[in-house]
Amino acid sequence: MSSKAETLLRVKQLRAEADALEQSIQTITPLAAIGKHFDESPATPLLSTDLAAQLEQQEQLMLNELKSYASRDMIKLTPRTEVLPALSTEGEQILAAGFTPDLDILRQVVQEGSYDLPKPNPVAGQLLKKKVVELQAGKLMLPGREAAEPVRELLKAQLAGDAAAAAAGAAALDADLAKTFALLSAELATQQEYFQHLTAISKGDHSAVSKDMIAVFTRRKWAANKKVTVHLIEKGPQFALEVQVQAKPVLTKKDLDNYIAGQMAPSRSLNIDYVRGRVPQTGHLHPLLKVREEYRKIFLNMGFTEMKTNNFVESSFWNFDTLFQPQHHPARDAHDTFFVRSPAKAALPTSAEGPCYVEAVKKVHSEGDFGSIGHRTPWKEDEAQKNILRTHTTAASARALKELADQGEFRPVKYFSIDRVFRNETLDHTHLAEFHQIEGLIADRNLSLAHLLSTLKEFFRALGMKDLRFKPAYNPYTEPSMEVFAFHPGLKKWIEVGNSGVFRPEMLRPMGLPEDVSVIAWGLSLERPTMILYGIDNIRDLCGHTIDLKLVKTNPFCRLKPSDEEAEETSTAAAAAAAASQ
Ligand code: PHE
Repeated sequence: MSSKAETLLRVKQLRAEADALEQSIQTITPLAAIGKHFDESPATPLLSTDLAAQLEQQEQLMLNELKSYASRDMIKLTPRTEVLPALSTEGEQILAAGFTPDLDILRQVVQEGSYDLPKPNPVAGQLLKKKVVELQAGKLMLPGREAAEPVRELLKAQLAGDAAAAAAGAAALDADLAKTFALLSAELATQQEYFQHLTAISKGDHSAVSKDMIAVFTRRKWAANKKVTVHLIEKGPQFALEVQVQAKPVLTKKDLDNYIAGQMAPSRSLNIDYVRGRVPQTGHLHPLLKVREEYRKIFLNMGFTEMKTNNFVESSFWNFDTLFQPQHHPARDAHDTFFVRSPAKAALPTSAEGPCYVEAVKKVHSEGDFGSIGHRTPWKEDEAQKNILRTHTTAASARALKELADQGEFRPVKYFSIDRVFRNETLDHTHLAEFHQIEGLIADRNLSLAHLLSTLKEFFRALGMKDLRFKPAYNPYTEPSMEVFAFHPGLKKWIEVGNSGVFRPEMLRPMGLPEDVSVIAWGLSLERPTMILYGIDNIRDLCGHTIDLKLVKTNPFCRLKPSDEEAEETSTAAAAAAAASQ
């Protein structure tokens, strides 16, 4: 034959081989298998587990595919709870090994003549109980010592797969040996059968496994019955052997116009809702944060710098003592202040070089200093060390001023802060145990009350409050002190908007600030103006776990301030809010 003809012949053979291979790897689709099942037995429903076993697929993975057919009405899928056997870890191990542990031992006894048993072994125990082996001097052997050899030969043949030769040989044995052979031959077969049934369970081919077999497996802890959800498959009205891919509907301008005009129902396949525009889910700023931003901008525009306020837990020293608040002051009572249990105490500041700040504070409290007679009561470090949740942001102001004093040469500063404070209040519709304070201060040489008055006017004017009134007040750390009132045109009355004063020398001089430096300061809450601006009359609608999240999601992006005339007609809700917070 010419080499060309040979090659052509080879090509032909290869093609045939390739076709055969392709045929062999062609997988049956679940749909084809379902179709085949109902062709053969239209009345019997098919179980998803049986289908998975037949296709050698995992039922859980196949289920997604089945569900997609069900959504197209090609099949009907009904979940059903069934009790089915499942392999234990040990069962899985047997499957992986390819034989039961019993067979492993028996094989060695048959092939080697004995099996070493250094310590009690439950598997060996099973075999001893069945009397298929005997224990002799720590070794497992075939029963009936002397006579065992011919039986062993026949069993070897059986293990090698030559059952016919084994049976023929057995016929020639005497009665006792024939009995031993029959016993062992049956045991080997049983063990092989066990393995086959474990395999069937793992494949989900449950129908092949008898109840007795499952009882044996349960006892041996190789498998156990478990409640599982299986799915009943029935033919659906749209049953087909292939999934029909539907052409996507074309969206016309007319469809759109109809939809917008409300004449067309939203269609899932057209996904038309997105044409109209959907509000995406995004983060939202809480009204308090928006108003905080407004205050922050006012301060920044006036040239103020933000102070550090990053400690909710503060020592009594910074919250009270540095502010010349006497140690027996009622505000230090547990009724007004939250004390921290752990750690209960804070370290007081130490100064390695120069005069000790703590000593200076002690002196001004207990004996007086810088021309002040002080409180003239004993001052205890122990009291100053107590940790609390800060009751005002003035504690942060004190820290900032001390830092300023420590910088050596004095330079004037304008500082502000907006952050959370905590008070052990009785909760009601205007009080929560935590709220936000806004605080501003200016430190410069020779500042007077006049500077404070004009600064407050400037600050509140930026907030839209033109008319201010001041009322003498008392703070342990300011002298003079003033409450600030503003006229609310909408409510037509004077409402309290803040507290202010000039920090006392008893607070500033121990820090080391020069004698001619004064600090003017004021503070207000963030919640109160926010409630007025948003027309909220109960603080529990603004903060805390009971608020309606819609408030956060739907509050306007920005607020436009009404003109003065419009402000006259401010909503009654705002009036109620302010009246309530008096
Ligand atoms: N700390 C005061 C308060 O808690 C507010 C305040 C700040 C008063 C600064 C005077 C000076 O109400």
